[in-house]
Amino acid sequence: MKRIWQHPQEPKTGRRYWRSVGELERRSEFMNKLGVEFPAGDTMDEHEREKQLVREKYAQEIRAAQAAGQLAFGENYLQEALAKMADLADLPLEWHFIGEIQANKTRQIAAHFRWVHGLADAHHAERLSRQRPPGLPPLKACLQINVSGEATKNGVPPEAATALLAACRQLPGLEVVGLMAMPAPAVGEAAQRQPFLALRQLRDRLASPDCPLRELSMGMSDDLEAAIAEGATLVRIGTAIFGARS
Ligand SMILES: Cc1ncc(COP(=O)(O)O)c(C=O)c1O
Repeated sequence: MKRIWQHPQEPKTGRRYWRSVGELERRSEFMNKLGVEFPAGDTMDEHEREKQLVREKYAQEIRAAQAAGQLAFGENYLQEALAKMADLADLPLEWHFIGEIQANKTRQIAAHFRWVHGLADAHHAERLSRQRPPGLPPLKACLQINVSGEATKNGVPPEAATALLAACRQLPGLEVVGLMAMPAPAVGEAAQRQPFLALRQLRDRLASPDCPLRELSMGMSDDLEAAIAEGATLVRIGTAIFGARS
C-alpha cells in the first residue's frame, strides 16, 4: 500500500512532535516527494520514519554527486556523518569534518575522517593525533582562523596562529596542510574578499618550505566567487548543491 505521509487533520498514531501545522505540511510535502512505499500495517513511529527517510535522501543525494564526479564531502554533525559513511561504504569518498571540534568527539573524528577543517585548539589537536588509529595516514588539518574577530565564531585570532601551528607540527598523527576561515557575512564581492585576502596573507607569512600550508579552505555558497578570487583551494558548498537543510 502506498501511504501518503500523514496529513495534519489525520489522527496521529505516532509520537507527537510536530511543532506546528505549517511545519507538518512542509514536511509531509517533502515525504510525499520522496514517493516512499509504506508496508501495510506499518506502525513505525513517525519520528523514526522521518529520520529513516531523511537518511535515505541524504545517501541518494551523495550518490548523485559522486556519480557527477564529486568525491570529497564535508560534514559538521558527527553522528549524521557516521550514518552516511555506513550507508555509502561502497563508494570511494573522502570525508572532511568541518564542524566544531569538541574533546568528546575527537576519537571518532580521528578514526573516520581524512580531514578536519576547524582545528583551533592545541588540546584537541593533541587528542586527534594520539587517537588517530595506527595504519592510517596522519589526519590532514586546516587551522581555523577567526579573521573577522567575531566573538561568537570559532577559530583562533590571527596573532595566535603561529603558536597553534608550532604545537600542531609536533604531533605525528596530524599533518597541518592549510588554514580555514568562515568570515562574517558581507554584501558585495569587494567586502567579501577582504577576510579571504587576510587569510591568504596570514598563510603566506606562516608557510615555510617544510610546511607550505597549500590549502585555503574558504568560501561557502554565498561567497565562493570572492574566496576563489583570493586563492581558495577548497570551497565548502552546502546550500548551493544540496539546497537548504530541511
Ligand atoms: C563550516 C561550514 N562550511 C560550509 C558550510 C556550507 O555553507 P552553505 O550552505 O552556505 O554553502 C557550512 C554550513 O553549515 C559550515 O558550517
